[in-house]
Amino acid sequence: MNTSTPVWQGAGRRIHLQEVGTRDGLQAECTFVPTEDKIALVNALSATGLAKIEVTSFTSPTAIPALRDAEVVLREIERRPGVVYSALVPNLRGAERAAEARADEFNLVMSASETHNLANLRMTREQSFAALTQVVRLAQGSGIAVNISLSCSFGCPMEGDVPAATVLDWAQRFVDLGVQGLTLCDTTGMAYPGQVEQLTRAARQRWPGTELTLHFHNTRGMGLANVLAGIDAGAERFDASLGGIGGCPYAPGATGNVCTEEVAHALQLMGYDTGVDLARLIAASQRLPGLIGHDTPSQITKAGRRLDLHPVPADFEAIRARALARATPT
Ligand code: COA
Ligand code: ZN
Repeated sequence: MNTSTPVWQGAGRRIHLQEVGTRDGLQAECTFVPTEDKIALVNALSATGLAKIEVTSFTSPTAIPALRDAEVVLREIERRPGVVYSALVPNLRGAERAAEARADEFNLVMSASETHNLANLRMTREQSFAALTQVVRLAQGSGIAVNISLSCSFGCPMEGDVPAATVLDWAQRFVDLGVQGLTLCDTTGMAYPGQVEQLTRAARQRWPGTELTLHFHNTRGMGLANVLAGIDAGAERFDASLGGIGGCPYAPGATGNVCTEEVAHALQLMGYDTGVDLARLIAASQRLPGLIGHDTPSQITKAGRRLDLHPVPADFEAIRARALARATPT
């Protein structure tokens, strides 16, 4: 079997993959995954070479019951040097809980769309910004890194297009507060490659010193195309979820994120350096159906990697013999 990897345009360029399956993924599941299984899953993910893991979220347990065990999970995982353990934080209460549980990073969330912000966070965007400003101050006082995730940056399922200027203006306000990272989220798979390229270029040019992440959902099958468009425009960090599970429970029509093992598989073939051990990642993904009680959208766990070859048919020798007999001139 030929296992050599062709190197195309990637030329070894480093692309950081950030796992969000245990947060964005599990938050949408009806089944409560037992705490010890979540911890074991995060530990398995830690061993795959991923750059960052969004372990859980410190939201209200009534709003997101699937992650009501956030403290225990974050406290009891085994931490690997080099992996950033992030947690979603919606408000000051969540920040205090996440700090107590030793989050490396707070992933703050608000929406670029007023309607989605009200539906998801029950506040206007101005109210969210005021509340999150306090969270940023708390993080800065405790030496915890902050990333701001702007939901609906590529469109809102209730409002439609969100102007790029609106997205960039909200991002600017957080950059001015001193956050380290900015994630542009395509919450319901409305992004398309040309738009991704434009917004990514604008963000990279405006804030070269801010860590930029792109967060795509594969709702309309454009996830991987959007990742590639983002890379071409200078992005180096992508959120993705194991098995492609996920979706915001407060965004109509939301479905799973781009699938971590599919993105890693494609990028590795293209010659990018993701730092990820694909076999371990696939093994971790294969645990998911047993945990969440249903199949996942991952194509790679079903089809295998490109060069995972299948056995020939059982009667292959007979087929060959018949074919050769036919082909032999008499
Ligand atoms: N952690 C734990 N409990 C929290 C909390 C937090 N971060 N924030 C609020 N609560 C509790 C309050 O203590 C209160 O509890 P009580 O009813 O027992 O007194 C209850 O939740 C309501 O609090 P309130 O301040 O009125 O908040 P809210 O109902 O307006 O909810 C959010 C605000 C944002 C915290 C909540 O809507 C939420 O967690 N939403 C989920 C957002 C999300 O993660 N979406 C998907 C990811 S994009
Ligand atoms: Zn998401």
